[in-house]
Amino acid sequence: MHKPFIIIVLCTLHSITCAGLALFTNGARTPVSNHKLRPAVEDDLDDIVTVFIDAFRPSAGWQYAHLRDDDYTNYTWTCTRQFFQGEWESLHRSRTFANVITVPRDGGQYFSSDRAGERVVSFGVWNWMKPQEDAADSSFSFRPHQLHAALGGKCLEHLDVNTTRAADLAQQLSLAVEKYIRNLTEPQLYLNLLATHPDWDGHGFGAEQVEAGLQEAARVGMPVTLLASPDGWPLYDSLGFRSLANITHEMFDGLGTLWSEYMRWDEEEPGAPSALIVQ
Ligand SMILES: *[C@@H]1O[C@H](CO)[C@@H](O)[C@H](O)[C@H]1NC(C)=O
Ligand SMILES: *[C@@H]1O[C@H](CO)[C@@H](O)[C@H](O)[C@H]1NC(C)=O
Ligand SMILES: *[C@@H]1O[C@H](CO)[C@@H](O)[C@H](O)[C@H]1NC(C)=O
Ligand SMILES: *[C@@H]1O[C@H](CO)[C@@H](O)[C@H](O)[C@H]1NC(C)=O
Repeated sequence: MHKPFIIIVLCTLHSITCAGLALFTNGARTPVSNHKLRPAVEDDLDDIVTVFIDAFRPSAGWQYAHLRDDDYTNYTWTCTRQFFQGEWESLHRSRTFANVITVPRDGGQYFSSDRAGERVVSFGVWNWMKPQEDAADSSFSFRPHQLHAALGGKCLEHLDVNTTRAADLAQQLSLAVEKYIRNLTEPQLYLNLLATHPDWDGHGFGAEQVEAGLQEAARVGMPVTLLASPDGWPLYDSLGFRSLANITHEMFDGLGTLWSEYMRWDEEEPGAPSALIVQ
């Protein structure tokens, strides 16, 4: 029932883990008063794809695999949109939730038919994970570096990526996800993907998305896990995630390595003494 996919890294590269990939919201927060955080709806997909591509394109992983980016801007957008549509339709809604942050639209590039006055500038995708879950049931939707074989027509040709590089990175990423995320021994909430449009960096949107997830996890007493990209790591670190393993991803042609960090957040024990309280 699941379409077979060739994971060619769409995402990995840049961030490498698709999971926490990219958060471009480090640094000072400039409040934007008229924004809102809400669950994603299908009409948001055009904007989400734009956020996704613009957020990840500058990353080292993306640059490594997308060799002819500038020649294929429309191709990349159209095929990524097609991929996200398929993912959206096959989402396990009981195990996945996706949130967006929107601001009033000001003449952006892509329009949604509904909610036409809002523009999505940040989104996050989360998975509830359980041990021994049937692998086929565990969907990791929206991982940026996947190219699905199920994509039809021209998209199947993956004209915009070097498939040798992308497939290799995707495989390395897949192993890391299996080892650190899927091979879990207790239920957890996994931050699969987080991205903020670079034009909207610096407003604390990434932090707001993560905090919403932490609240959900705390409500049910679960830890939160993710694989952070170099861009995302400082944010997660500042929010109290612990860095547990540094994962190295080798590139071909002597280009060196990319890295991601396995991170975990646990709610403070209720009643645990605060370090600040001295008797
Ligand atoms: C963008 O790609 C779509 C699908 O491949 C195509 O139909 C459309 O004509 C392209 N638009 C431009 C401006 O190239
Ligand atoms: C998953 O966990 C099992 C049991 O701890 C271990 O033997 C196996 O090597 C792990 N798989 C990966 C990919 O790390
Ligand atoms: C992970 O290792 C790389 C070197 O391979 C290093 O540059 C990076 O700072 C490390 N990340 C963290 C979070 O320690
Ligand atoms: C694709 O990447 C591989 C590995 O880095 C490289 O050997 C090959 O030349 C690249 N192909 C193209 C068309 O750039």
